[in-house]
Amino acid sequence: KQKGMYLHEKYKGLFVLNNGVKIPCVGYGTWRTPDGIDTVQAVREAIGCGYRHIDTAQLYGNEESVGKGIKESGLNRSELFVTTKLKNTDQGYDSTLRAFEGSMKRLGLDYLDLYLIHWPVPAVFKDDWKQVSRDTWRAFERLYGEGLVRSIGLSNFLPHHIDNIEVSAHIKPSVDQLEIHPFFTQKETAAYCRRKGIQVQAWSPLGHGTILDNPVIKEIGLRYHKTAAQTALRWELQQDILPIPKSLNPERMAQNADIFDFNLTQEECLRITGLGETGRTGPDPDNIDF
Ligand code: A2P
Repeated sequence: KQKGMYLHEKYKGLFVLNNGVKIPCVGYGTWRTPDGIDTVQAVREAIGCGYRHIDTAQLYGNEESVGKGIKESGLNRSELFVTTKLKNTDQGYDSTLRAFEGSMKRLGLDYLDLYLIHWPVPAVFKDDWKQVSRDTWRAFERLYGEGLVRSIGLSNFLPHHIDNIEVSAHIKPSVDQLEIHPFFTQKETAAYCRRKGIQVQAWSPLGHGTILDNPVIKEIGLRYHKTAAQTALRWELQQDILPIPKSLNPERMAQNADIFDFNLTQEECLRITGLGETGRTGPDPDNIDF
């Protein structure tokens, strides 16, 4: 187990990244939350109910609203962990530096906690993704070196994509954010990351809501007076995976962060892991069309 995790302080348990940076172990996700008042309100609300880690992306088109929500929350910048991701078409050395500047302007921040390469093989760079990926990482290292970003990482990278980065990397990626839920466990990639000291994060940790009606997950949750959503999120946490649930509903937001007062047994975790894989709900990282 990594040091410093499971502080058991509701909402604010921490993982420690491989460069020593602490990261709140549940993030609030903002995918498909369109730019505008709804996102501003949701982010403000999420921070209000205890989230200290907000995850957005250039591709989501909502950085400005996320930034407004952060500002309106009134919280000190240093108390928040903010992640954004580089858009596929902006990969490459110079374009990454420009894209980063744009993201920071929209977010209204002067430093970022975590910057991720959103996808490993952008459609526009399909034939030369290997070189483009390394150039992009070099720009990430520069931003890190300049102190503009506290940690740098990847998203949707499978082992062969990570290996490619590492050929020329000077700084190890701290994070890989993957689609992970009980029906798509990504066991091999997660184990690979663990061996390399890369923190795994889970997007769509509720499998787009598909896990909510699963009788086994529901039954296990009931033993602890928890919902299926909370049970799945706890299952992720107990594998050292950092879930990034999203909800626009304040009650469900709070529910999704309230997962620090129970422990699944090993047998319960194994039962959930063994439910059977139905596969990914999102795109295949090697074959995306954007
Ligand atoms: P809503 O915003 O209405 O709460 P995922 O993150 O796996 O893609 O799943 C997100 C979906 O699951 C959202 O549509 C969200 O809808 C819903 N959701 C999030 N948290 C919960 C919860 N605790 N219980 C039920 N549904 C949830």
